[in-house]
Parts: sequence; structure tokens; C-alpha cells
Amino acid sequence: MRMDASSPRNEFVKVDQAFDVSLRPTRFTDYVGQAKVRERLELFVQAARGRGDVLDHVLLSGPPGLGKTTLAYILGEQMGVNVRTTSGPAIDKAGDLAGLLTGLEKGDILFIDEIHRIPRAVEEYLYSAMEDFVIDILIDQGPNARSVRLNLPRFTLVGATTRMGLLTAPFRSRFGMSNRLDYYSHAELQQIVQRSARILNVDVDDPGALEIAARSRGTPRIANNLLRWVRDYAQVRADNKINRDVADQALTMLDIDQHGLDEMDKRMLNTILTKFGGGPVGISSLAVSVGEEAGTLEEVYEPYLIQEGYMKRTPQGRVVTPLCYERFGLKPPAGIQTELL
Ligand SMILES: Nc1ncnc2c1ncn2[C@@H]1O[C@H](COP(=O)(O)OP(=O)(O)OP(=O)(O)O)[C@@H](O)[C@H]1O
Ligand SMILES: [Mg+2]
Repeated sequence: MRMDASSPRNEFVKVDQAFDVSLRPTRFTDYVGQAKVRERLELFVQAARGRGDVLDHVLLSGPPGLGKTTLAYILGEQMGVNVRTTSGPAIDKAGDLAGLLTGLEKGDILFIDEIHRIPRAVEEYLYSAMEDFVIDILIDQGPNARSVRLNLPRFTLVGATTRMGLLTAPFRSRFGMSNRLDYYSHAELQQIVQRSARILNVDVDDPGALEIAARSRGTPRIANNLLRWVRDYAQVRADNKINRDVADQALTMLDIDQHGLDEMDKRMLNTILTKFGGGPVGISSLAVSVGEEAGTLEEVYEPYLIQEGYMKRTPQGRVVTPLCYERFGLKPPAGIQTELL
């Protein structure tokens, strides 16, 4: 996904590897929220383990920072197998894929992040690997070209994607289970902040944790990163203690507003409000106006804005709601109130 480097939040949302890893839950019991997905996966693991079987392939989708990579590692931990990690863009030749697959042991998880970015030609090799645990590799070119069949150990492919819509139907259908992660509630994020605070040995009270949660755009990764910033702020300005006021001051200093919308969120809403008179506007016109791909708007940004009640999808296009006018300090035009509520 494209990031706007000038946004103050995004500087804080850059992934701090070590930090991310230390806060990453390693078991289902520490994984907060996503109750349905968690329950399904727990059952899936229990059943496979009960039969002494290899876990079927799992697809995880949803916006960035919601816990897809975390779940992949939890699956490895709970199955008691190794997790090998790679990402779609890193596998640009069938040979790369063959190398990865032949290095696996029986039952291992191959985690492919950004799986929608695997080149189409490589994707087709993956089909036979997933289905029959074999891969046919073409060696040499021209008259000497021949195909060699490699047998693979039975393995589990765990794929993660922010852009489910870009996966082809045949690819999707080869996963035994597909799970979509959703944004977290404030209460769930508050729990995540409290858990992270315990690990980092940070003193934060309940209202302080809730304040951070409410400004995290429904996203655990953002909540953890904001917690880290608020901790620094508290260390310098507030005796190492985080309460609601301290959290508010620290986040205001980062230009993160009360509702935690990010730059692209605001740009989208503002564009619909000012350039398109509140809508309806088609997703492709909107995409051109804000300078982002339509699919990214649809799969990465829009779900949060719809969930929070700032905009709606209608058959005519996207429209903003009275709440959106209000948040931007504007008066909704007459008529919109009754029409949309
Ligand atoms: N359910 C959860 N409970 C507690 N912490 C979580 C949960 N989900 C995610 N986190 C925290 O958020 C961080 C980001 O999660 P993760 O890396 O799994 O997201 P992702 O969905 O893979 O994001 P991306 O699409 O950017 O790769 C993790 O390091 C972890 O600390
Ligand atoms: Mg990830």
C-alpha cells in the first residue's frame, strides 16, 4: 500500500521490527478480539492435531496491522511446526518458489505475506504444490528443455493479503479456510494497550489506555505505536504515568485527532465533501482525486470509514453522512439528515 511519508502519523506507524515482535501474542489465549476467526482457527488446529494431520491451507485477509502475520505465527506455535516466511514480491521466479518449498519439512507452515503480489506465472506453480504437493519445474531452454517433477513434503500455506479482490478465484479456492479480519473495537484495543503496557512495564490507567485505543483507527499496530510515543511523552513530561490527559496531550502533539483518522481518511472525506458536494461519487473518480488506487481505497481505507459511520456506499456511489459534516465543522445540507439516518 502507498504511504504518505509526510504524514506525522505514518512516521510513527513505520514498523519497528523488534518492538512489533516483543508485543506480538504467540498463543490464541493472548490474541485479543477477532472472536470468530480465532474460534474457527483454534478448532481447525485442534482437529488437525487430533488426527495427527497437517493443517490445511489458510488465507487471511484484511487491512494492514490487524494481526494477520501474528495469526500465522500463532498457527505455527500451536501446531508445533516451523514457520518459514516470505512475501509475494520476493518470489519472482518459479525457481524461487521451488527453493522455498523443497526446504520445508512435513507439516511446516510457509507464510506468504502480500500473497496478491505473486506473479501470475508463479501462482500457477503454486496450484499443484498446494493441491498435490508436487511441483513441475522446467529446466533448460530450447530443444533441451524438460520438465522435472519434485515431490514436496505436505505443508501448510498461510497466505496474507490486504487486497483479497486481487486474488484469482482458482487461487482462492485452493485454501481450505479463508478468514477476513475486521477493525477492533475500542474496548478490544484498550485490552491490547494494557497488555502491551504490562510487557513494556509502562504505567497506564484504564482511561489512559482507552484514550490511546480510541485514537488508533481500530488497528492494534497503531495502538502499540501510539502507546510507545505516549510512554516517551510521559517519561519526559509526566512522571512516567499515563492517564487520559497525558495521553491526550501526547497524541495532540502528534496531530492525531480525537477520532484517530489518518491523512488518507481525511483526504477522502474532504474530497467527497468539497469537490463532490457530499457525493454520490464513483470510486474511480474519487481515486483519481485523492491519488490512490481505487482497489486500495475500497479494501484498505473505506471499510473503516464506513464502519465508523462517516460515509456510505450507495448504488449511485459514495456519499458522506451527517456525522462527517459535523466532524469537519460543516452543517449538513437540508434533506441529507432524513435521507441518510
Ligand atoms: N489480536 C491481537 N492482540 C494483540 N495484539 C495484536 C493483535 N493483532 C495484532 N496485534 C499487534 O499488532 C501488531 C501488528 O500485527 P500484524 O503484524 O500481525 O499485522 P498484519 O495484519 O500482519 O499487518 P500487515 O498487513 O501490515 O502485514 C503485532 O505485532 C501485535 O503486537
Ligand atoms: Mg503482516
